Amino acid sequence: MSICASSSSSSEPTPPSTTKALIVHGVAVGVAVAVAVGAHAYFYLSRSRKFRSRVIGIIPARFASSRFQGKPLVQILGKPMIQRTWERAKLASTLDQVVVATDDEKIAECCRGFGADVIMTSESCRNGTERCNEALQKLEKKYDVVVNIQGDEPLIEPEVIDGIVKALQAAPDAVFSTAVTSLKPEDAFDPNRVKCVVDNRGYAIYFSRGLIPHNKSGKVNPQFPYMLHLGIQSYDTKFLKIYSELMPTPLQLEEDLEQLKVLENGYKMKVIKVDHEAHGVDIPEDVEKIESFMRERNLS
Ligand SMILES: *[C@@H]1O[C@H](CO)[C@@H](O)[C@H](O)[C@H]1NC(C)=O
Ligand SMILES: *[C@@H]1O[C@H](CO)[C@@H](O)[C@H](O)[C@H]1NC(C)=O
Repeated sequence: MSICASSSSSSEPTPPSTTKALIVHGVAVGVAVAVAVGAHAYFYLSRSRKFRSRVIGIIPARFASSRFQGKPLVQILGKPMIQRTWERAKLASTLDQVVVATDDEKIAECCRGFGADVIMTSESCRNGTERCNEALQKLEKKYDVVVNIQGDEPLIEPEVIDGIVKALQAAPDAVFSTAVTSLKPEDAFDPNRVKCVVDNRGYAIYFSRGLIPHNKSGKVNPQFPYMLHLGIQSYDTKFLKIYSELMPTPLQLEEDLEQLKVLENGYKMKVIKVDHEAHGVDIPEDVEKIESFMRERNLS
């Protein structure tokens, strides 16, 4: 009632001539587009405005980990790591909902405590993608896009999340999107740092644990803009079902890189380049590193 009253009192009565002019303008633009690109494309353009519009962010989190038991709950400057990731994800404007998907009651309890939506998934999930898939099926609402937000990147920028979502929405021929950043020369030969090469329209050509491209000299070329893959990914939800059912592929098995299965099966993957310093927490020693980085930058 009060909302109605205030909105009607604040809006000026619009002179009829202005309204008419606006309508005419709108029609003129529609006609111009139809003429310029043809009826088929016009249909596509008007339809594409809603393309892949319903988006969910899922943070898969498990307690057991071979390298770092209870990792999601580790305190980083006084806050659990999972909470930091969740708070960053909540700032992304493209996400309609953010949920934590976990098999662990301790994690679930902690997340509910700071206000997160939690979906319990089975312990048999073998990787984050499987966990996302199960969580998605347990949700009542339907989504077009799911962003798999790794819980071990507590400093992920909301802009990176929004960037990959928008990239997927703008590339109907891609089923998957992800992000890369500049590779530091010292990481060139580190097999845990995954490199990526893309075509001139920003679609992934290949991912490798080796340095790609490989300079003829065999050395790192200081002039070449090598790219480091960041763990964050988004998928078309229709593709997610197909993805988990695809058989392992030779390159995927050889490199032990899940995403190669997508490329080896001929699907397209859109890659965006972002400015992001990766601060993944993989082992207990990484916690100190990230904390000192945050202190330096006055992040709390
Ligand atoms: C390899 O790297 C060097 C710089 O180290 C560069 O001058 C050269 O153009 C690169 N490519 C080839 C094919 O040598
Ligand atoms: C997750 O793990 C399962 C079992 O190892 C595997 O079949 C699947 O391809 C993996 N990745 C995805 C994306 O589901």
